[in-house]
Amino acid sequence: MKRTHTCGSLTAADDGKTVILNGWVHRNRDHGGIHFINLRDRYGITQIVVGPDAEPELEKIAGSLKFEYCVAIEGLVHKRPDEMINKDMATGEIEIEAKTISILSTCKVLPFMIDEKADARDDIRIKYRFLDLRTESMQKKIRLRHKAAFAVREFFEGEDFYEIETPTLIKSTPEGARDFLVPARLNPGKFFALPQSPQLFKQILMVSGFDKYFQVARCYRDEDARGDRQLEFTQVDVEMSFVSRDDVLAMTERMMTHLFKKTMDVDLITPFPRLSYKEAMDRFGSDKPEQRFAMELQDFAPLVPGCDFKVFKDVLASGGSVKVLVAENCSSYSRKMITELEDVAKTYGAKGLAWMKVTADGVDGGVGKFFTNQADNIKEKLGAKEGDLLLFVADKYETACKALGAVRLRLGQDLKLIDKSIFHFSWVLDFPLFEYNEEEEKWDPAHHMFSMPQERFIDTMEENPGEVIGDLYDLVCNGYELGSGSIRVHDPEIQKRIFKIVGFSEEEAQERFGFLLDSFEYGAPPHGGIATGFDRTIMIMAGEDSIREVIPFPKNTQGASPMEDSPAFVDEQQLIDLHLKTIPVEKKKENK
Ligand code: AMO
Ligand code: AMP
Repeated sequence: MKRTHTCGSLTAADDGKTVILNGWVHRNRDHGGIHFINLRDRYGITQIVVGPDAEPELEKIAGSLKFEYCVAIEGLVHKRPDEMINKDMATGEIEIEAKTISILSTCKVLPFMIDEKADARDDIRIKYRFLDLRTESMQKKIRLRHKAAFAVREFFEGEDFYEIETPTLIKSTPEGARDFLVPARLNPGKFFALPQSPQLFKQILMVSGFDKYFQVARCYRDEDARGDRQLEFTQVDVEMSFVSRDDVLAMTERMMTHLFKKTMDVDLITPFPRLSYKEAMDRFGSDKPEQRFAMELQDFAPLVPGCDFKVFKDVLASGGSVKVLVAENCSSYSRKMITELEDVAKTYGAKGLAWMKVTADGVDGGVGKFFTNQADNIKEKLGAKEGDLLLFVADKYETACKALGAVRLRLGQDLKLIDKSIFHFSWVLDFPLFEYNEEEEKWDPAHHMFSMPQERFIDTMEENPGEVIGDLYDLVCNGYELGSGSIRVHDPEIQKRIFKIVGFSEEEAQERFGFLLDSFEYGAPPHGGIATGFDRTIMIMAGEDSIREVIPFPKNTQGASPMEDSPAFVDEQQLIDLHLKTIPVEKKKENK
């Protein structure tokens, strides 16, 4: 009973043919002696009919078919009468009168209905991923992912890039997250790391003369799994020699344009708008600004001197910022709703969320009493009008921006200001090269340590590392960081100075990635690149808000896979072979 057709292929043109279909029982309805069986496979659904005058044996089998039985059906294709045609189904013009049904395998009671995923909790879906993947929505997303990977490769082939594989058992790459380690049995006590990205290898490939490289690369980072993060994920990783920043940006725009056109027939508008990191923070309170709606943050500092609100004055006096958001027509917000917004601000470190309402006569409620004499001025400067709600955070610049930026996002969602049909791409440029690590009281690289400072900072970068702007760029879409890259350092001297600023001794640098530094002594070309998150890109294309939705076999929020039950303990002998001993968790806590 090998199939002659798929469940998505038969049309009125096949009327009268005898066919064999293989698939799963999607539905089986018994309409008083007539069985309507919806048979499903990857390609679609076909309606099978077992009529009242069917052989008793066939009738019996038809009646026994439960959800998700895997079956083979031989039957005759009938064109449906015009009034019975189902326009919602690709095969809606026909049905099949079954002659033989063979059960290939039965199915236990389902943990959830296929295609009614809303009922199933995430963990159940991941545990029974083999069933979840049968749902139409998952099948569509996996198809999209496949088409997208193909389009990416097609694009790079067209631009004369080579796809080159880099190893996944490597020495730890300093990319900022924690490494996953793999014990090396043949070298007792030593470990490989799984790559956080192919960063060092792609730079070496530039030294080797492969001036246009890309790779659909699997990366591993031991970090907390959130909505847009997984322990293992895929990057479209790119590196190019003899290029400037704008070459990399333009190439990325062409790649995204090709990808969206090929897979979704969506025309992206290029060039993508650009904004500096400072502008993104000032206006949206985020380095990955959601720009599908306006409602931008404004600076309230110029209006503070005329008021009597001590909190704002003190924050400004100590060098901080006061940011304000004009929430249009939100003056009807209740205390409770404002408190919820305040909780959002507080999770981003704000001490509070001050507010006032704009009325016909002035400002009112919350901290309004401190501003009554300034109401007209406030309205004019902020462009606020009667019925608006003003929301404020006063704090250190970054905290004020980020906290109010989070409130902005929440309002955008609550007020349904976001047009979900848009893909809003932009570039965020001019990031600081270093950021201060308050805990360790030292400078850290903001991206990674192989990024170039912009030309004007090169000579003096040691003087004030906090002010150095790097040749760094992030690709942002709909409030997500989709990609990140930089022009790299290819001059060993500049590289050494950067290591020094971030507190890496020469010995340590030599020990960790001496191989890259050594390669730079042999005619390294100027180069730069970018990596875009493939899972995030597919997530955005599919209109989802978690990358788990577009990864065939993802980990759950605890970083585990309940399907195959990983991670798992291993046999004692495996540990012995690897020269490893594990410390029980309790004991580890005691030692702390
Ligand atoms: P970066 O660390 O910014 O840069 O990563 C690039 C892009 O990869 C995606 N990404 C992730 N996606 C899912 N889960 C994760 N845990 C995760 N971490 C990152 C994001 C991000 O923008 N080597 C550099 C790139 C370069 O400089 O060329 C790098 O890896 O979409
Ligand atoms: P308080 O004077 O502490 O009673 O605060 C008055 C209002 O100002 C409350 O709504 C607080 O949430 C808010 N508030 C306190 N500190 C800040 C701050 N740093 N930024 C913004 N609002 C604040």
